[in-house]
Amino acid sequence: MSGDQAAGGATAQPSSSASAGAAREPLASSEPVGLAVIGLGVIGRRMLEQAASVPGLRVRAAWDIDPQACRLAQADFPGTVIAADPQTLVSRSDVDVVYVGTPPAFHRPYALMAAAQGRRVFCEKPLTSSLDDAHRLVAELAELGTPNAVNFVYASAPSADYLQRRLSEGSLGAIQGIDMRVFFSQWPREWQASAQWLRAREQGGFVREVLSHFVYLSIRLFGDCRLIGAQVSWPPDATLCELAASATLECAGIPVTMSASAGGAGPDEVLYTVRGTRAALRLSHWYEVSESDGQAWRPVEVPSARYPDQRVAAYQEQLRNLERFGRGLSHPLPDAALALRVQTIIEGILSVR
Ligand SMILES: NC(=O)c1ccc[n+]([C@@H]2O[C@H](COP(=O)([O-])OP(=O)(O)OC[C@H]3O[C@@H](n4cnc5c(N)ncnc54)[C@H](O)[C@@H]3O)[C@@H](O)[C@H]2O)c1
Repeated sequence: MSGDQAAGGATAQPSSSASAGAAREPLASSEPVGLAVIGLGVIGRRMLEQAASVPGLRVRAAWDIDPQACRLAQADFPGTVIAADPQTLVSRSDVDVVYVGTPPAFHRPYALMAAAQGRRVFCEKPLTSSLDDAHRLVAELAELGTPNAVNFVYASAPSADYLQRRLSEGSLGAIQGIDMRVFFSQWPREWQASAQWLRAREQGGFVREVLSHFVYLSIRLFGDCRLIGAQVSWPPDATLCELAASATLECAGIPVTMSASAGGAGPDEVLYTVRGTRAALRLSHWYEVSESDGQAWRPVEVPSARYPDQRVAAYQEQLRNLERFGRGLSHPLPDAALALRVQTIIEGILSVR
């Protein structure tokens, strides 16, 4: 099934009837930004949960192609309104931002449906499941002129802000290299057992799902990055995702080594390391910062405002920035064009056979 077919029969192209839908009145600063959520799996449910603690955001309604996912969301998040269909959802007059939280193959049709309705689009990463689709989506969104943003959480994570601050102070010395390392004993991870699309080559795999965050972070911290070379180990079953991948990138002249694998015993590793001549900084388990001046890694306490947990802090700060995006204020969230730059590197790696 193509992404367009799966979008509940909705047209992927802007139509005159769609753009004639209910216009949103200018938002008063006292009024919360209205959110519509499409896709009620792991990440859509996380949005329902986390948005509830941001006073400036209000989930107005949601929809998922799977009725069971809709029922579960209503049971677990009482008060969730389920729309009759996606077009009804994005046309609601109280919706400012449409959050697209489906698997990547379906991002484009829903993003276009929302944009055609004049709604701001907040799309999950990776932007789409194919580079062609991503190029088309970026051009189509630019033509529609609706603001868009993509959910790379390192855009707002206090630990990523900390890395950026230390880099701009120059306290690591001259940057010599960046290492990205991920290992998962099981892919998809246990908590993603229901997301079987993550096992499939068509739109899943840990290179797209996880390393895209590190590529985004590198672009955020260092500027443009390009792929120099890659090697990928594929399983014999051509429908399944990669077993391992390694790649070399260059970001602002800095060499980047990337290595990723899944399967086998041992704790999962999600490590991003920046090495300077004076010190190195490392993100482990996504958001925990540690530092070395040549000795053993020692943890760094990163202020995370009201949130004791860096993961929650990252998500909450992202939602505060989503509120700013919804109000048309300045915000640090990357747009689809930047997500396309990330995806160009990721799909470049995955094109190696
Ligand atoms: N930003 C992050 O940190 C982060 C973290 C995890 C996942 N993600 C991204 O979020 C997206 C969803 O991932 P997930 O883990 O929630 O997957 P999931 O499989 O748990 O949930 C996807 C949901 O989308 C629904 N769906 C599938 N096709 C649909 C369609 N055509 N129309 C409407 N609904 C449809 C499914 O029924 C399911 O409920 C992916 O793009 C993934 O890469 C982002």
